[in-house]
Amino acid sequence: MKREKTKNLIDIKDLSKKDIDDLIKVANDIIQHKEKYSHKCDGKILATLFFEPSTRTRLSFESAMLRLGGKVLGFSESSSSSTAKGETLADTIQVVSGYSDIIAMRHPKEGAPVVAANHSMVPIINAGDGGHNHPTQTLTDLLTISREKKKLDNLTIGLCGDLKFGRTIHSLITAMSRYKNTKFILISPDELKIPDYIKTEVLEKNNVEYVETNNIEEYMSELDILYMTRVQKERFFNEADYVRLKDYYILDKHKLSTAKKDLCILHPLPRVNEIATEVDGDSRAKYFEQAYNGVYIRMALILSLLEVE
Ligand code: CP
Repeated sequence: MKREKTKNLIDIKDLSKKDIDDLIKVANDIIQHKEKYSHKCDGKILATLFFEPSTRTRLSFESAMLRLGGKVLGFSESSSSSTAKGETLADTIQVVSGYSDIIAMRHPKEGAPVVAANHSMVPIINAGDGGHNHPTQTLTDLLTISREKKKLDNLTIGLCGDLKFGRTIHSLITAMSRYKNTKFILISPDELKIPDYIKTEVLEKNNVEYVETNNIEEYMSELDILYMTRVQKERFFNEADYVRLKDYYILDKHKLSTAKKDLCILHPLPRVNEIATEVDGDSRAKYFEQAYNGVYIRMALILSLLEVE
């Protein structure tokens, strides 16, 4: 069965700055007037196809659709789907797109959402593909930054941890590179530096200022945002390398001693050991608000992709 052309969200670049502004505007309105949106998706079905583990992304998508009045179906691990019997992604998508109105999919293979979009009759949302992209986390991050800072321009952003495999980092750099006077401080061990293609095709191509360091305290006093990330155990080939690098950065109160009073500390979560729990009570720690914001921006995204007024 062939489909009409539908909108998808595969890469954050699929959205213009205006699209992102509009989504943030709608998400803020949803936060203010939740009841206004509670029947917007009556009769609609979201399928969540998660071939990799997730807590926030899957459940916030499901919460988003339920809060819009719609229904959800799906699976949370490939072993409980017919993938375990050898079914191809293309066939799975072809079938599930006949059971649902929109699909959020997480897959360990980079590029899998493109394959899905080519075989779907309904919009596909990339909920994370391997170490590549995680555009809806970026929308969550942008909503959080805009709510905390009241702007998206003129920000110095520290990105710390696994910049090599951290897909949230790759999407966030791509998005923030479009805003005026963004400066990145890229903080990582040598083995986990940002991939060259992000440096050349995103940062340098857009004349975005950045520095690389392995010292989390070196630029702390300059940061408006500090975005911590976990070392991505599941992308390592070698357990010994993971063990050596996993606790390279642990943000604690002492390391924050030179930070701005209005620093905004973010983390896409899950946290393993990168932020000491003593930081959770600091008024600058915004990572749980960030996780809550994920529901509202995903509600806005579902409305947009389903073209609900
Ligand atoms: N931030 C994020 O993607 O979390 P989950 O892996 O729990 O979905």
